[in-house]
Amino acid sequence: RTIKPLVAGNWKMNGLKADLAIAAEVAKGHDATLRRAVDLAICPPATLLFTLTASLIGSRIATGGQDCSAHASGAYTGEVSAPMLVDAGATYAIVGHSERRTLHGESNAQVKAKAVAALAAGLTPIVCVGETKDEREAGKALAIVKKQLRGSAPDGASAASLVVAYEPVWAIGTGLTPTAADVAQMHEAIRAELGRILGKAVAAGVRLLYGGSVKPSNAAELMNVANVDGALVGGASLKAEDFLSIARACA
Ligand code: G3H
Repeated sequence: RTIKPLVAGNWKMNGLKADLAIAAEVAKGHDATLRRAVDLAICPPATLLFTLTASLIGSRIATGGQDCSAHASGAYTGEVSAPMLVDAGATYAIVGHSERRTLHGESNAQVKAKAVAALAAGLTPIVCVGETKDEREAGKALAIVKKQLRGSAPDGASAASLVVAYEPVWAIGTGLTPTAADVAQMHEAIRAELGRILGKAVAAGVRLLYGGSVKPSNAAELMNVANVDGALVGGASLKAEDFLSIARACA
């Protein structure tokens, strides 16, 4: 591998303070060998971000928000801004997750504005893209994902300040995964499209995560696909042993 992989856990709307124990267990398992091979991040709900980040000091496990506002501050009730995530200790902000795009109607332009806000605050946005089942069956997966990238990747990102996550919507939380060949084709297309948007040199170093039903039993196969530089893990990130086992599959 030329790019150090990143395995990020997205806890989604799960996690009470008792669940800080999950992060503590992950930290225990993130030993020197694993640290050298893979970067880990946990994206808890906003209510836990500050405490969880503080609890992970010394563990080399980064944290992130699951979303951020496109605005830095102001009259936006219920929103959390990128500078607030930084203040709570975050390194990353997931933007454009399919659950935000679908349940909250976020457009590519809105996702891009959030990614730009995250970058401006010093966070590394994890920009999510991915096609629906209908789009894949209609043979439109590549075109859809390229369009999402053109619309939502932030201009001016460096390789280190951007992560892209390919998450086929039909694979999220369903137990279904694309074939290794389909993942390879998509990740190659994503890197090529990023090259057109950000320049080849930058695109070559951007971490491309695969997400969607990643679990210990399929992690090795998915993580060994060319241009897959880690995983964005939902359900399995709530079990420390499963999350660690996925991380080890990248090492
Ligand atoms: O952000 C994570 C993804 O939506 C994947 O979720 O691993 O539960 O399928 P999952």
